[in-house]
Amino acid sequence: MSLDRRLLKLPEPTGEAAETTKRLCQIIGERIASDGPIGFDRYMDMALYHPELGYYRNGLKRFGEGGDFITAPELGSQFAECLARQFDGLQPALGGDWTLLEVGAGSGVLIRDLLGAMQHPPARYMVLESSAALRQVQRETLADLPSDLANRVSWLDAPPAESFCGVIIANEVADALPVSLFEITADGPMERQVSIDGDGLGWQLAPTTGRLAAALASLLADLPEPLPIGYRSEICLNLAPWLATVTAPLERGLALMIDYGYPRREYYLPERMDGTLVCHYRHRAHFDPLLWPGLCDISSFVDFTALAAAGSATGLELLGYTSQAEFLLTLELGQDLAEIEPTSRRLERANEVRRLVMPGELGEKFKVIGFGRDIDAALTALCAGDRRQRL
Ligand SMILES: C[S@@+](CC[C@H](N)C(=O)[O-])C[C@H]1O[C@@H](n2cnc3c(N)ncnc32)[C@H](O)[C@@H]1O
Repeated sequence: MSLDRRLLKLPEPTGEAAETTKRLCQIIGERIASDGPIGFDRYMDMALYHPELGYYRNGLKRFGEGGDFITAPELGSQFAECLARQFDGLQPALGGDWTLLEVGAGSGVLIRDLLGAMQHPPARYMVLESSAALRQVQRETLADLPSDLANRVSWLDAPPAESFCGVIIANEVADALPVSLFEITADGPMERQVSIDGDGLGWQLAPTTGRLAAALASLLADLPEPLPIGYRSEICLNLAPWLATVTAPLERGLALMIDYGYPRREYYLPERMDGTLVCHYRHRAHFDPLLWPGLCDISSFVDFTALAAAGSATGLELLGYTSQAEFLLTLELGQDLAEIEPTSRRLERANEVRRLVMPGELGEKFKVIGFGRDIDAALTALCAGDRRQRL
């Protein structure tokens, strides 16, 4: 057991979980034995999205109290209630026959709570979800919705071929896109690849090539000062293709991405020497992404400058960029607290508000970025505390 694991007291996997990670390690090891060391993006893709054994595909519990982490929609229904107010406010611009596309719906609580809260629910609620196991969880979450609402939900493997007028929402999806890792050395930036080390997996440095070399050159040229030798971080080459793909069918409307992240100059600060990659296992954060692939979530902060540039490259208009706290408070989060009865329920909802907006919780770390296409609507919440100039 590594020192890290003992200090963190990570509970050792047993039974089906232990078997899952053992098999996935074997598959990754075989891939490296045949192809040579692999980029971390390929490793992360297998660790999270291997069709049977990957973290989001293997059917083990992920979300909520018994899982590995809690997201804003999992805290309660108020995140969804705020979004519902935002989407209801778009009705004059969208009209009645509109579509909502949710990308990466996790346990499905946002689908259920949004449909339950909107005064003008969409005609179609499409869910772009790559995990068959999570689709099943989502169907179960919707079991108590009135059939008139549940019947509007459909699941997709790829964005719809036909264009639509409406809204796209992706909460905590961009942070789960596979990233490449790099280290600044005396010979310039090198790629941190995953190799075989004894019986397990390890690291090796390799010269950067192709798209990674070009993206790093452009990133480093964009920073106000050089990064020090030994600096390690990550870069997501999948961000722009992903955004272009998921927003391609949006003919008219709004695309909202909510995630933890920073503008580029705050992301690649010289003092952030180890990057932002973080793993979650049973509500404990750790920093060893090679530990127990298939059982640990792996994510990194989003470079919102790169996301904004990707939006503009695909013809989207940047409508706003702000903190989750500013966004939700402008959408009247917590304003009904005084009327909530009984007291125990009021305290529960007050605690949820606190977690959604306090700077030490999700309020400041999480940002909301909004893109539009051909839409003319007042988006006051997106522009509250507008931070577009920081991008
Ligand atoms: C961290 S979870 C967030 C879940 C949910 N949005 C929430 O806030 O609770 C990431 C979700 O994105 C899905 N996902 C990851 N990459 C995806 C992709 N390229 N297309 C569609 N879904 C994806 C995962 O299967 C999972 O449902």
